[in-house]
Amino acid sequence: MSSPYLTLNVVELTHETNDAVTIHLEHPDRQPIASEPGQFLTLILPCGPGGKKERRAYSLSSTPHEAPRLSVTVKRVHGGLVSNYLLDTVKVGQQMEVMAPLGNFTVKPSPKAARSLVLVGAGSGITPLMSILKAVLHEEPNSHVLLVYGNRNEQAVIFRSQLQKLQEQYPNRFQVEHVYSQPTGKTESKSTSFFSRFTSSKPATPDPHQHTGRLNRTMLLRVLEQKHQFPAEQAEYYLCGPEGMMTEARAALDLLGVPANQIRRESFVAAAETMEAAAAQPNGHGDVSAAADDGKVVARTVTIQYEGSEYEIEVGPSQTILEAALDLDIDLPYSCQAGLCTACRGKCLSGKVHLDEREGLSDSELKQGYVLVCVGHPLTDDVVIEID
Ligand SMILES: Cc1cc2nc3c(=O)[nH]c(=O)nc-3n(C[C@H](O)[C@H](O)[C@H](O)COP(=O)(O)OP(=O)(O)OC[C@H]3O[C@@H](n4cnc5c(N)ncnc54)[C@H](O)[C@@H]3O)c2cc1C
Ligand code: FES
Repeated sequence: MSSPYLTLNVVELTHETNDAVTIHLEHPDRQPIASEPGQFLTLILPCGPGGKKERRAYSLSSTPHEAPRLSVTVKRVHGGLVSNYLLDTVKVGQQMEVMAPLGNFTVKPSPKAARSLVLVGAGSGITPLMSILKAVLHEEPNSHVLLVYGNRNEQAVIFRSQLQKLQEQYPNRFQVEHVYSQPTGKTESKSTSFFSRFTSSKPATPDPHQHTGRLNRTMLLRVLEQKHQFPAEQAEYYLCGPEGMMTEARAALDLLGVPANQIRRESFVAAAETMEAAAAQPNGHGDVSAAADDGKVVARTVTIQYEGSEYEIEVGPSQTILEAALDLDIDLPYSCQAGLCTACRGKCLSGKVHLDEREGLSDSELKQGYVLVCVGHPLTDDVVIEID
């Protein structure tokens, strides 16, 4: 198996808004790196205490046809370690250690497909949606894409001009509906400020594609009810944004009768309300309820199989399996350390594992015995986990 680690060059930066930057990366010999639309890169940066390396996942805002370029877009999180480090220090020409693209929040474009995609995003949640929409518009000439995009105001819109250009390029296949919670009525679009010099005091005509309010279930239902090109029961839905927005969007789609298997979601942050326990076991009876646990979280030994080697790891009661492995310098793959991204996914071949968070795993993966070692604790003494 080839190493999942790569060193890439920062070849360009695009300042999208006051607090979001797109970092364009390439392999030093411009060799293309395999990726799927909607996947994420893990950046590994020496910005922890004493230069300790920190990892964070950032969704690709680029799409495979933009190879050899891989781009990620980082939004500043108040008080956040890595996002502030990147926004304040990243420079063209610097090298960056990354883990190759991973993730299941993806589309597989096919030129023969004729589908309707509804993408619902807010804030930095636009990044994987951008990758997905560019791929589908480019590779599926018979598919239609609707983006419902929530932001505080016009100035906070990441990719504003790219989205405008894509709408001009695909006028019949791509629609964007902007939702602003606190609109200012001003945009920084160059064309608007240019023309506004010549338009006298005439009041601006309200834009039917701009909505004021929160991107909640009422708003989404209102927007979708006018979109006859996107029949609720047939469209495919991709959600990415704050937990509250995704819960509201999910409630709207339930009211519209959208089958669950047509809805996909990606979380950037572990939500307090999803921090319920989950237990996964290899006998096909994964259960999301802690009540299924018949063991206790105490110190136990876990066997990890990874890249042809087998490791016996003593996992303390307050440690995750990943933390115990890293303490022993066992270089397992990981990214978010929060049970969201699946970089650390393994298959539980025997024993039972308690998961603090299950957001990254589907019900079917849980049933097959998949676990996330970054949020996993052994519940029995015979746990064996195979990591891909
Ligand atoms: C699969 C995946 C894809 C992601 N893609 C992107 C992306 O494309 N662009 C992007 O900007 N971020 C993305 N993120 C989030 C990113 O990995 C970091 O979590 C984020 O940049 C904050 O890291 P930090 O070191 O600055 O903050 P930390 O120092 O880790 O956290 C500081 C505080 O901020 C909270 N926090 C962390 N992330 C967020 C957030 N996104 N919003 C609000 N509060 C937060 C934490 O809970 C903590 O309380 C993604 C995360 C995942 C799991
Ligand atoms: S490292 Fe992201 S799910 Fe474990």
